[in-house]
Amino acid sequence: MKLNIAVLPGDGIGPEIISQALKVTEAICDKFGHDLVYEHALVGACAIDAVGNPYPDATHELCMSSDAVLFGAIGSPKYDNDPTAKVRPEQGLLAMRKKLGLYANIRPVTTFPSLVHKSPLRADLVDGTDFMCIRELTGGIYFGRPQGRSEDGRTAYDTCVYTVEEIDRIVRLAYKYAEQRRKKVTIVDKANILSTSRLWRQEAQKIEKEFPHIETEYMFVDNAAMQIIQWPKRFDVMVTENMFGDILTDEASVITGSLGMLPSASIGIHTSVFEPIHGSYPQAAGKNIANPLATILSAALMFEYAFNLQEEGQLIRNAVDASLAEGIVTEDIAENGKACKTTEVGQWIVEYIL
Ligand code: IPM
Ligand code: MG
Repeated sequence: MKLNIAVLPGDGIGPEIISQALKVTEAICDKFGHDLVYEHALVGACAIDAVGNPYPDATHELCMSSDAVLFGAIGSPKYDNDPTAKVRPEQGLLAMRKKLGLYANIRPVTTFPSLVHKSPLRADLVDGTDFMCIRELTGGIYFGRPQGRSEDGRTAYDTCVYTVEEIDRIVRLAYKYAEQRRKKVTIVDKANILSTSRLWRQEAQKIEKEFPHIETEYMFVDNAAMQIIQWPKRFDVMVTENMFGDILTDEASVITGSLGMLPSASIGIHTSVFEPIHGSYPQAAGKNIANPLATILSAALMFEYAFNLQEEGQLIRNAVDASLAEGIVTEDIAENGKACKTTEVGQWIVEYIL
């Protein structure tokens, strides 16, 4: 099969983790006889520095003409500490999501047996966790207008907006995945306060009736935040709006033991994007210490979701499990000071595959 991939390393540790995921992708293609073609493009702070735009047109065109996008991370302290910056790296990620129509962000949350003791949560609570968070990605308060400041600069506002169509397509997607899993959907909202949440609940209650064989539950987001860490095994497919999903999935990453472990797939209208859920970790940039596993696992999702190549994805997952079991891991999850470098972890996984 021919795989045509756009590679967007981004900022901070992005280039380092992406090159490991790319090595792994190449190894899989060699092993299974696929023909890999890829091209790099700019996104984020490095794109602002180079061409003044965090999501340049050339990058968008490359994404549109590719079969899948492998994405690193974006963000730079240079912009975080300047609240008056006119253009920010994060706008590049949001523009990409919007222009590619990536309305669903799928974040699987699973534990790894050899890492369970690394979780700050009790092992018996987290061991065996296996749920999927589906985060709406192109609506809500991230994109609603108006957004900004009053003329005197003393008042600021953001607007949360959702349409029936936006709610419908994401809730249906949740049922589709629940159908293939343990047949339970948890709809997370704040319907006791927000009118957008009440519209979510109203639409979900209609869709629910079409799936009588699937258990549906509704949960307020504050309660969900508590239950995710108290009883993570109770969830199967969770679906929620943009910002709730952003927050809950960072929280969920502690179940795994490290933010450096969680991959994601963003799917929608045009080309799908595969990226780790963590950020650009600027303090670690260039040090060869960042955990590449979330990005390598994102490459596994790419084989499965973009190319329907299940065996290829599974081999990457097996290789990651093996590296964890052997203790070939970066410092965030290493035991008694035996940390490997980013490139060593990537290389070990490549050799396991070949
Ligand atoms: C994520 C990130 C992004 C988001 C940032 C970098 C804009 O936190 O993908 O979860 O908030 O969506
Ligand atoms: Mg986030």
